[in-house]
This record gives sequence, C-alpha cells and structure tokens, in this order.
Amino acid sequence: MIKYLGSKRTLLSALVEILQGFPELTHVGDVFSGTSRVGHACKRAGFRVTANDHNAYAHCLAQCYVAADLEDVHADAQKLIDEFNRVPGKPGYFTETFCVQSRFFQPHNGARVDAIREAIAQKHLPPLLHAVVLTSLMEAADRVDSTCGLQMAYVKKWAARSFRDLHLRMPEVLPRSKHGPCRALCSDANQAVRVMDVDIAYVDPPYNQHSYLSNYHIWESLVRWDKPETYGVACKRVDCRTRKSPYNSKRTHRQVFGQLIAAITAPLIVVSFNNEGYQSRRELEGLLAEHGEVFVVTKDFKRYVGAQIGVYNPSGDRVGKVSHLRNAEYIYLVARPPLVTRIPDAIARLSQLAQRIDDSPAVDERISLQVDRVTSVMQALTAVGTATRSELRKHTGLSDYQVRMALDSLTGAGRLIVGAGGRAKVYSLRE
Ligand SMILES: C[S@@+](CC[C@H](N)C(=O)[O-])C[C@H]1O[C@@H](n2cnc3c(N)ncnc32)[C@H](O)[C@@H]1O
Repeated sequence: MIKYLGSKRTLLSALVEILQGFPELTHVGDVFSGTSRVGHACKRAGFRVTANDHNAYAHCLAQCYVAADLEDVHADAQKLIDEFNRVPGKPGYFTETFCVQSRFFQPHNGARVDAIREAIAQKHLPPLLHAVVLTSLMEAADRVDSTCGLQMAYVKKWAARSFRDLHLRMPEVLPRSKHGPCRALCSDANQAVRVMDVDIAYVDPPYNQHSYLSNYHIWESLVRWDKPETYGVACKRVDCRTRKSPYNSKRTHRQVFGQLIAAITAPLIVVSFNNEGYQSRRELEGLLAEHGEVFVVTKDFKRYVGAQIGVYNPSGDRVGKVSHLRNAEYIYLVARPPLVTRIPDAIARLSQLAQRIDDSPAVDERISLQVDRVTSVMQALTAVGTATRSELRKHTGLSDYQVRMALDSLTGAGRLIVGAGGRAKVYSLRE
C-alpha cells in the first residue's frame, strides 16, 4: 500500500481484535478511509465493509481494496497488469510536471507512468477493474518515488529507490464477504454517515491543518487524469487552493466532528484519536460521552517518518526542530444505547477488550486522568458547598458520564453526602 500520513497500519491488529469481539455486528463503515487499510483488514476478517473518503485517489484505493471482489476481477486484472508491464515509456504530462518541473520521480519512470496511464484510459474498463489496475500503477509509482512519504516536497538528492524501474504488481484484492456487498463512497464524511447503514462506524479524521489533497496531490492527478494547472515548487494542482476539508481548520474541526458523531446511527462507534491534534483528550472524551459509554485503548508509537528524519525546506536544508519522536494513538470505543439493547453484555465485553489491548504505560495515565476528574469534582464541591450533577458538569466542564464516574469514586471512598434537592440529588463533601 502507498506511504500515507496517519495510516493506521500499526493499529490494525488492535482494531480488528476489538471488532471481532462483536461477531453479532457484521457491517463496518470506514468513514475516512485513506489507504483503506482498515477496511481491507476488516474485509479480510470477514466483515462487510463500506468505505468513504472525499479524495478521488482514496476512493480508487477503496474500490480496489474494499468494493472489488477477487472472484470478479482477478483474471482480467492480472492480464492487464502483465500487459502494462510491457508498455514502453512515452513522456507526457506526468513526466513534464513531476520529473522535469519538479523531481518527484526519475524521468524514465515518469515516462512509463504516462504511457501506462494513457493505456488505462483508452481501455474504458468497468469501474472496479479500472480501480484495481490504477491502484497497481499508483503503488508501483509510490515504490520508486523520491519523497519522505509526503508530496509537499521531494528530497534534495534522488532517493535510492527512485533509480529502480517501475513495475506493477497485483494488489491484494479480497474474496467476497459472506455478509453482503462491500462498497466505496466518495463524499464528504458528514454526508456519507447519513447513508451508511452500518453496525460499526470507524472514524479516523484528519486532526490538524495538513491537507491530504495537498500532501497527495500527485495521486489525485494520476487518478483523475485531468492534467490540471499546477503551482509552486511541488507542482500542486490548482484546486488544492480551493478544495478544503473542514477537518483541517481549527475553527471548524470541533463543530463538524461533533455534528458527525451526532449523525452516526451505528450502535458502536470506534474513533482514532491522536494527541497532536486540534482537540484535547478532555474535549474529545466529553463530546463522545454525550453519545454513550466510552472506553479508551492507548497505543504508544514512534512519530511519522518526516518527524523521525527532521524537517527540511525544498532545497533540502534542515529547518525547524522536531519536538518529540513518540506519540500516543488512542482508540475510543463508544457504546451507544442501541448496542446494549442488541447485545446485553456489550459493556462487559468492551471493558474486558479495552483492558486486554491497552498498552501498559497508558494505564497510569488513565488513572491520573480519573484522579484529575475526582479532584475537579472535589474542588467544585469545596467551592460551592452543595451541587447537583448537572451543576457539577457546568462547574468542572466534565461530561455527565465523567461526573458520574468521579462521584462513584468519592462514594466508594466514603467522601460523599447525598441529599435530596427537589427532583435531582444534591451532593456535598463529608468533612
Ligand atoms: C487520518 S486519514 C485516514 C487514514 C486511514 N484510516 C488509513 O489507515 O489509511 C484521514 C482521511 O480523511 C480524508 N478526509 C479529510 N476530510 C474529509 C471529509 N470532509 N470527508 C471525507 N473524507 C475526508 C482524507 O482524504 C484522509 O484520507
């Protein structure tokens, strides 16, 4: 699969293990599919999958890895890939733009991409077969590129892999799912969730200002083959200036994310979250807790390759500092009320799964987070004397679920007096 910022390669086994804990749920929706690794792993594990991403290159990957079934495309795709591997190079738009005006690929490989892409266009293939051979070309080009995995810049000296000859391979298309047809959508996520009738919604949005279209503009142009005007050193498509995601703006992220979660009807929501984004853990947990019981699994990782090797300007000089080389990835599991109606022991299963999969260092962090919440509730009660649960929510900024957990801890420690105040219970601290 292609190199991709935020790809969930390292989280796959944990994600699949969680989902396999619920064999009653058979249809997974991957709302921001990117490389489609997650959807692919779910389909391989037997799930029916619907994938969505608003960029054309990601939709192409989803058609190949999720929507296409091996039984339908394998023989034709293999024949075409063998044929394209014999096509000689003929320089065109791709070579001129990405090998001459910029240096993302060596010209001999650029010319092969041009010739093969034109040959694909002339075949007028059925959509899923078209996507499989196009994915094969995209991945072949990715294996001989001269970048650090992002197309905002190319490396100063040719990368060693760029000298190799472009060679297409058959992508790992999977057999049909027994639970029904898999699909690939290409819409805005907030629209897509309204038509995705799935049991599990997997949500992995962009978490900061870095636009996926700008970072992978070459794949977008290769897939669309619309030969657009370009700008800047990286020869980005001009529409990178206008096609924006609200998830890449600090101003709109929180609002659209909240609307997305509220629009999901799936009984189980699984959210990937990274501690380097616009939202803090506290904000995210507060928001998710409005929609059901929340469990968190923490995974501790190295940061993406750009951060490992440093930050460089287009002339290859090291600029800026890398702040840290490890980051935590969080998987939030939100059990919405219909899950418990459908699977009565769902909460117990989620709790066991979360404990089993969690990386150990995070346990301390979780405990300290819970201690923080208890402290916030105690401070609020010390300040105001008595308060109802909804007043405590206002005073602490915690969600109702988090306030309840903190109150349970204080009750367990014998620190709480519970009184009746009208219709709501009133809480105060025991001296
Ligand atoms: C963090 S990546 C997902 C990575 C993916 N889980 C993987 O393993 O490859 C976020 C994805 O969201 C897509 N995206 C950004 N804004 C979107 C929007 N408003 N609607 C749909 N997709 C969007 C981007 O194209 C990108 O592929």
